[in-house]
Amino acid sequence: MRSVIDILDYSVDELEVLMDLAEDMIAYPDKYAHSCAGKKLATLFFEPSTRTRMSFEAAMYELGGSVITMEDAGNSSAAKGESVSDTAKTVSCYVDLIAMRHPKEGAAQVASEAASVPVINAGDGGHCHPTQTLADLLTIRREMGGFDGLTVGLCGDLYYGRTVHSLIHALSRYKNVKFVAISPLELRLPDYMKSGIDVTETASLEDALPSLDILYMTRIQRERFDDPKEYERLKDSYMLTPDKLSLAKSDCSVLHPLPRVNEISVKVDDDPRACYFKQVLNGKYMRMALIYTLLDEARRSSVKAEKVGIVTGQPCRNPRCICSVEQELEARFRITLDGVSRCVFCDSAAR
Ligand code: CP
Repeated sequence: MRSVIDILDYSVDELEVLMDLAEDMIAYPDKYAHSCAGKKLATLFFEPSTRTRMSFEAAMYELGGSVITMEDAGNSSAAKGESVSDTAKTVSCYVDLIAMRHPKEGAAQVASEAASVPVINAGDGGHCHPTQTLADLLTIRREMGGFDGLTVGLCGDLYYGRTVHSLIHALSRYKNVKFVAISPLELRLPDYMKSGIDVTETASLEDALPSLDILYMTRIQRERFDDPKEYERLKDSYMLTPDKLSLAKSDCSVLHPLPRVNEISVKVDDDPRACYFKQVLNGKYMRMALIYTLLDEARRSSVKAEKVGIVTGQPCRNPRCICSVEQELEARFRITLDGVSRCVFCDSAAR
């Protein structure tokens, strides 16, 4: 049984198959209208959401299935101290599939190891957001025809921005993809995201714009800051206006996972290069393809997610990691491609 925690859980070939399936669903919706009849999805959201939760729910209904939701899971028995593992085991008794968002990094991994049904990570703290990446990939493929050779600008909060981290994981597996990381010094990409990719760092959106095929704007993530004053200082670091966009190529696509705060002026919305609302719609189709595929795979397999990593006895020191709140969860580490021992839940380096 397969869960989706990180976009790296899918190979490039599998991503292409998912995108092809989404295209078929767009072209022939009637073919899939009853394909998940009798199946139930639970949406467990411990953090606010508009697009991710509603698009999962819309996707399941369009496939003929049904949905039960905890849109404010902070008001569930988690408020009484129930662990993520016990919540996942419990909800597995009611549904065939779980989509979960949680503020702690690694929470979806923990849920997937406890659940008896597939778990989809709908965002775990500042770590990953793989289904947003599915929406991003379909949008880029539809706009640009493919991924090889693209120069992708990532702008805003690159430290806490989980959508950026998942998008880098996905795009770095295509040929000759270059990244331009545009951020204030304090919000640069974490080091573990930079290893093995072709990335240039700058603080200037204006300098970067002329070279970009894709501009991926993100908001500064207020909810991840420990110090509200630091957020106030950095929140308006970037704003894309029609004047600035005039520096970009005529076929540059502007993406944003949304919600936006001030990073893109509404005056940009009518520019043909603005793709962020297409991205929203593509997210629903990619989630339909994902739900359909996971339920089909679950029908054919009942193998639980494998536990990975080595228990070393040392704790994970990331205060945002799920290890910091789940009392009996043993920290586990694995060696990643950069040769560093990292927490299997949140990817932070062991110290
Ligand atoms: N892109 C995204 O995750 O949006 P929501 O927070 O509204 O789900």
